Amino acid sequence: MNVNETKLSVSGHESFPSLSIELWQHRHVLDLDDFSCDEVNLVFEIADAMSEVISRDVKKVPTLRGKTIATMFFEPSTRTRSSFELAAKYLSADTVSLDSIKSSVAKGESLIDSLRTLQALGVDTIVMRHPCSGAPYIAAQNLETSIINAGDGCHAHPSQGLLDMYTLRRHLGDLNGRKVVIVGDITHSRVAGSNIWATKALGVKLTLCAPPTLLPHGLHAMLKKCSLDHVTVEHDLDVAIRDADAVMPLRLQKERQQSGLISSIREYIQLYQLTPQRLSLAKPGAIVMHPGPMNEGIEISHEVAYSSQSLIEEQVTNGVAVRMALLYLITGGKIR
Ligand code: NCD
Repeated sequence: MNVNETKLSVSGHESFPSLSIELWQHRHVLDLDDFSCDEVNLVFEIADAMSEVISRDVKKVPTLRGKTIATMFFEPSTRTRSSFELAAKYLSADTVSLDSIKSSVAKGESLIDSLRTLQALGVDTIVMRHPCSGAPYIAAQNLETSIINAGDGCHAHPSQGLLDMYTLRRHLGDLNGRKVVIVGDITHSRVAGSNIWATKALGVKLTLCAPPTLLPHGLHAMLKKCSLDHVTVEHDLDVAIRDADAVMPLRLQKERQQSGLISSIREYIQLYQLTPQRLSLAKPGAIVMHPGPMNEGIEISHEVAYSSQSLIEEQVTNGVAVRMALLYLITGGKIR
């Protein structure tokens, strides 16, 4: 079925997104570096309709009936995996779920052979998370089936970038010119990796804040080479946070770090924890986000995490709507 010929009918009556579905050109969602502003806004418009669906008592529409979606997670996940699986179920797709322990990868089968098996079984879209950066790209090169990257190593996490911006847009409206600060372990964060591109597409001013050891080597050269002139780098959080519309602390990804990147946790907390005092330096009422899982008391204080400014739980809820929109666009919506 051709998505380009479809109109959106997910909320009981037919509604046409003001942006044409024809502008959607992606067979896979691997990162957001190839997303235009209009494409991001199209995802948001469809996510708005999906949000309405998930606010109902009966959260089920027939949009993807007859389609099959597989999730293949080779790393732990609570939010991303369950929200993709719920998104697929709310759209009436059939789902199959694999992980590294239960799949034949544990018996020595290559990743590509496992993915080809899913393709041969008739799966329409594979949502995959893998510890190696670039794994979903290799999958996309070797398969006809659509691939959605649910996090690859330290590289990208496009659905998280979209849900972060969607959450902000619901509260702030047009994001053009708004200031967002991402603070913490930028080097190992695929969330930061995708948000760099999502913010560029939407005209957001992004400040990356971390000690030099938690910023990727060659960051400045990369920002220049990719014309990412909306990004500022700052080591001092008290400076970075001034006038911010939103602040997103990140978890220290100990599982990906070599030792010695920070001198001590205690010093890191002192310099980089988002506390009520620090948050008061941002714009009044500035939004707090976190992709989860949080390490409360390290990158974020308990008071801030549960303050009225925190949209952390709303991010999780919005994640389902945004992933429904992506599955709809990738797997093919149906006219009803
Ligand atoms: C993030 C991830 O897995 O990249 N979490 C998520 O998907 N919500 C961030 C993290 O693990 O810290």
